[in-house]
Amino acid sequence: MNHVKKAIFPVGGMGSRLLPATKTLPKEILPIINKPIIQYAVEEALKSDITELIFITGRHKRPIEDHFDTAPELELYLLNKKKFDLLNAIKSIVPKKTSCIFIRQPGPLGLGHAILSAEPVIKNEKFAVILPDDLIDADTPTIKQLINISNKVDSSVIAVEDVLLEDIQKYGIITQENEYKNQKISKIINIIEKPCIKTAPSNTAVVGRYILEPHIFKHLQKTLPGLNNEIQLTDGISSLMKEKNIFAYRYDGIRFDCGNKTGMFNANIYFGKKYHGLVPIKNEK
Ligand code: G1P
Repeated sequence: MNHVKKAIFPVGGMGSRLLPATKTLPKEILPIINKPIIQYAVEEALKSDITELIFITGRHKRPIEDHFDTAPELELYLLNKKKFDLLNAIKSIVPKKTSCIFIRQPGPLGLGHAILSAEPVIKNEKFAVILPDDLIDADTPTIKQLINISNKVDSSVIAVEDVLLEDIQKYGIITQENEYKNQKISKIINIIEKPCIKTAPSNTAVVGRYILEPHIFKHLQKTLPGLNNEIQLTDGISSLMKEKNIFAYRYDGIRFDCGNKTGMFNANIYFGKKYHGLVPIKNEK
């Protein structure tokens, strides 16, 4: 049985690594081929039977709200032109019986703060967190994989993968319980936000998919600003770990970090080839 019906999409970030594209456009609205990054994240949730989409937005993020709203003039135009495929494509972005909830974060206060902002909507349920920057192509949607594991172990579950040593400082890094080390599912015994290579306990990194028990909220409430003076979700998870088991899951799928140019470039090539039959031009010398 799927116990997870709500997903949080933290979309308040500045997207400075993609300037100048993100000067006026939220990074989540930038497309991979012809679909905004945020729509891939939402589709992953919908395919995983999630019906409440909670966006934690901020200033300059209005295009995200508009993307998930109706567009009457455009719909009428496409209807008159008999462009039914396109009409259907924009009308089915949010299926009926799905609700979109937008909560505004007053500033860059951290991922932990963003998650805490959703507490009044989540209340006492297990929920999903999807970071849209991490675009993952997988046969079974990654968040669905996590839901299945979470139902099995009846605990919070976090997606992980091993990263290159030079990338350690970009991620939350975990230590797994020894006897389960490198298995697909393992118990986490330590988690630290963006350590330097020298002090990192491993190279197993947290990827932007989480299933969390609502107990996380009381831990986030008492989490003080950490790295970059922001309230870090990682610190809240570290505190929750003292009370409850938390599991790491090595998900199946191919991930692109679309918060930077390399990830965006590779994702466009990969999705273009795989889903749109596009072929890059051969103009190398
Ligand atoms: C966030 C989390 C980090 C995690 C990463 C995954 O960092 O704080 O622990 O490893 O997402 O993408 P951000 O990328 O927002 O800096």
